[in-house]
Amino acid sequence: MTGLGDVTRGRILFGGDYNPEQWPEETWAEDARLMKDAGVNSVTLGVFSWSRLEPRPGAREFGWLDRLMKLMHDNGIGVVLATPTSSPPPWLGRLHPQTLPRDEDGRTEWWGGRQHFSHSSAVYRRHAAAITEDLAARYGGHPALTMWHINNEYCTYDWGDEAAARFRHWLRNRYGTLDAVNSAWGTAFWSQGYGEWEEILPPRRAHYLKNPGQVLDFKRFTSDMLLECYAAERDIVRRHSPHTPVTTNFMPLWAGQDAWRWAEEEDVVSVDLYPDPRDPFGAQHGALVQDMTRSQARGPWMLMEQAAGPVNWRGVNHPKPRGLNRLWSLQAVARGADAVCYFQWRQSRQGAEKFHSGMVGHAGEQGRTYQEVKQLGADLAKIGPHVADTRITADVAVLHDWHSWWAGAQDGRPSTRFDYPDVLHAWHRALWEAHLTTDFAHPEHDLTPYRAVVVPQLYALTDAAIDNLLAYVRGGGTLVCGFLTGVADQDDRIRTGGMDARLRDLFGIRTLHEWWPLEADETAACDGFRGTLWSEEIEPDGTATETLPYKGGELDGLPAVLRKGRAWYVSTLPEPDALRGLLARAAAEAGARPVLDGLPAQVEAVRRGDLLFLLHHGREAVTVPVPGTHHDLLTGRTVTDEVVLGRYGVAVLKP
Ligand code: GLA
Repeated sequence: MTGLGDVTRGRILFGGDYNPEQWPEETWAEDARLMKDAGVNSVTLGVFSWSRLEPRPGAREFGWLDRLMKLMHDNGIGVVLATPTSSPPPWLGRLHPQTLPRDEDGRTEWWGGRQHFSHSSAVYRRHAAAITEDLAARYGGHPALTMWHINNEYCTYDWGDEAAARFRHWLRNRYGTLDAVNSAWGTAFWSQGYGEWEEILPPRRAHYLKNPGQVLDFKRFTSDMLLECYAAERDIVRRHSPHTPVTTNFMPLWAGQDAWRWAEEEDVVSVDLYPDPRDPFGAQHGALVQDMTRSQARGPWMLMEQAAGPVNWRGVNHPKPRGLNRLWSLQAVARGADAVCYFQWRQSRQGAEKFHSGMVGHAGEQGRTYQEVKQLGADLAKIGPHVADTRITADVAVLHDWHSWWAGAQDGRPSTRFDYPDVLHAWHRALWEAHLTTDFAHPEHDLTPYRAVVVPQLYALTDAAIDNLLAYVRGGGTLVCGFLTGVADQDDRIRTGGMDARLRDLFGIRTLHEWWPLEADETAACDGFRGTLWSEEIEPDGTATETLPYKGGELDGLPAVLRKGRAWYVSTLPEPDALRGLLARAAAEAGARPVLDGLPAQVEAVRRGDLLFLLHHGREAVTVPVPGTHHDLLTGRTVTDEVVLGRYGVAVLKP
């Protein structure tokens, strides 16, 4: 088994996507010089190189890549080599139109952009395998090669005919019989019963609401088809270089991929992360994605892409103010990253991303962006030997599951006024602001390492997941569940009584009579706080040990929050301060402690191994009380009992 540790060997990987085919070869030497100067030790090559490597069907042009691999090797820079399969050359679509995906209206996604491939196309898969095979045969033993990167941000859908055929095949494997499909999808409703497999289609454009079971399974199917594409290429490169780790880059909290399942198929888990520099909760979004990626990796992970400055795909694309790039990069390291990389090395001068920043921007070597990148490289070199391969221990786990998200996010639900990711962010933010370190976990994972487990919202839960939660509480764990949890089973079949009966019993609920979703500008007054988004009409069974009631309105006097021993149920989304207070209290009673006491509001603290990272997200200097004497690895100074952090300041303290 290989992993990131085999590549980092006591360093933090630092670098980014390098697309030298966009530049004349004279630039390459300058690239190498600037890379070395900035402490870059890793580049990702070839992500979008298919048409350069195979300009005509079956042709192979490896000479330019040979020269680049050598150049990187001569400069001591490792290469993460990508299979180029996320952007097929135009000839593939022209000669084999069946490789192009169709949207739900049957419209073709043409070449001219990227990711115009159907995961289900046998011809696409064959051509992708062929170029991967030759790439792996040629470079599998190259001394510059450190890792394989398969494809890029797998994220395509296909509603076309070949996808339809594979969907049926996938359903046969999952359910065995057509009767079982009809049962899982509840096709007795609206005369949807299937008599022949051939009648089953992907959920294409329909007159009115689509069958939710069909939509749910199509999402599962899509994730599985992309995973098949990934695994096929992974197996090829592994055959040629069994000791080189393999990754593919996730998008954060991307709806199209069950990343729990995918992570099990990777040697290194990597993610692309682009918080908006103007988002007041950008740092918390970063922390959430970092916690989730670390949990998927079960250890150190790779930040495959971030932006050194602005991106080009928001309405308004803000640059990073001075110091923010360093702060957010070190935050990733604090939360377990052993690789800090960017899209991309040199900012393009042409093409769709010419306004997207690079490590070397259009302003060049003297530009602020490159100068800050260089500073970061020096910082990472200082802390690398102390950090690489060390672990983070979390007392609290946040549960998340893509299947529940998929089941709960459909049309025709009680309220479309909230999104699952928003609820997840709200709960994680409460814990983040309380300075509690969190992992993420799947509801069927072993939860016993955690003092407290929180469930922001798991609309659909399997029986195994419910058993797991019950066993966790029985074993002494503290569980806090948010609204609309345990409502449906794995087929999106409603569990009667408003919530699974075993969970109702756990929380002291006799019946959940109605959901009372709230309008965007509406709140529900509760004892000591206000609820947002949602409220519930709950009849308790009298066994709860503590309740906080709704005040006024239709639900006056009914419990908004119930607690029965170590199991809590929160039937609304409390406003941020209240949610933080509630979760901090439940966590404290469970014995989970904040990383440090007395932290100023904008300072984030994380312990990694024996190091204490302090990250200041504000611009005014603050003094952080840190009992004892520490050595700051970044400044080289000894600090006693307190640390002063300036604008976006960071300290990495070793006892
Ligand atoms: C993604 C892709 C990159 C690039 C960046 C831009 O993460 O993987 O190729 O397009 O977005 O932010």
